[in-house]
Amino acid sequence: MSSFQRCSLTRSAFLLLFLSSSFKPAETEVVKSISDCADFLLDQTPPQIPNILTNGKILDQNRYKPICQTYQDTRTFLTLYDTEERIPVFSAIKFVQEKEPGGRSKNQKWMIEPQNMEQDDAKKPPMAKQASNSDYKNSGYSRGHVCPRSYASTQTAKNSTFTLTNIVPQVITFNSGSWEKMETCTKCFMEKFCKNNNGAIEGFVVTGAKAGDKKLKDRVNIPSLMWSAFCCYSSDKKAWLASAHWGRNVPEKEKKDKYLQTKTLNELYEKLGTAKEHFDAKLFWGVPLP
Ligand SMILES: *[C@@H]1O[C@H](CO)[C@@H](O)[C@H](O)[C@H]1NC(C)=O
Repeated sequence: MSSFQRCSLTRSAFLLLFLSSSFKPAETEVVKSISDCADFLLDQTPPQIPNILTNGKILDQNRYKPICQTYQDTRTFLTLYDTEERIPVFSAIKFVQEKEPGGRSKNQKWMIEPQNMEQDDAKKPPMAKQASNSDYKNSGYSRGHVCPRSYASTQTAKNSTFTLTNIVPQVITFNSGSWEKMETCTKCFMEKFCKNNNGAIEGFVVTGAKAGDKKLKDRVNIPSLMWSAFCCYSSDKKAWLASAHWGRNVPEKEKKDKYLQTKTLNELYEKLGTAKEHFDAKLFWGVPLP
């Protein structure tokens, strides 16, 4: 995928200023299974994540909750949330032509999720199973989007990415450095090459975090690694296009141009696989691998 490199990059400052710690609840839905919110997945087929999600089944259903992210009655993307580590396993979105660009608000409200994540366990105080703003406050980590705001096509969908169930503690310089460059570059690539048979932009993106061994305030896992992959059909090239990236959640020297390497899906599957079975991870099915 050499054309990927041609995608031009602008390095814009990405230090989100969180002037407000207030929140309003998202009108979002914890669904029973991933298949209740499958429109954001290629062929409506759930990814395979070793030890977490196999053959469309969540192995530990008390711990991992599928969330159909919804904002103003519109379903926007899908998250599988780990209520023990209090970070997403992944978020998945269908990428289309941006209809309402721009408009990042400096005092964007952070949302927290509905009570229904807690229903199984009514005795716990509200929000016990998910991260809260106070977990991130003064932590030295940024609230890193898993599904990027910039991949959502409308302001409604963009706003819906500002939910703590779509967020991980991300090292600030990684977030505003190589990770943001990768997000920008992948978006630009998809806009150029991911045109379906009707000439419309269409791509599928799955982004996730690998839990690490440290926590914020003993509650929120600080992921060791973040990863992202997309897949689309290009009618121009009459081929499936896909690529993957990952980066360790560690500090980067500011002003130093660090880029995440473009990898194949198989390389990512190997990275996410278990030692026993290197390729038991799978994000997109039934697609000839480029
Ligand atoms: C998105 O959020 C901003 C900031 O909170 C708000 O001003 C705007 O009205 C919201 N837009 C939509 C479409 O909900």
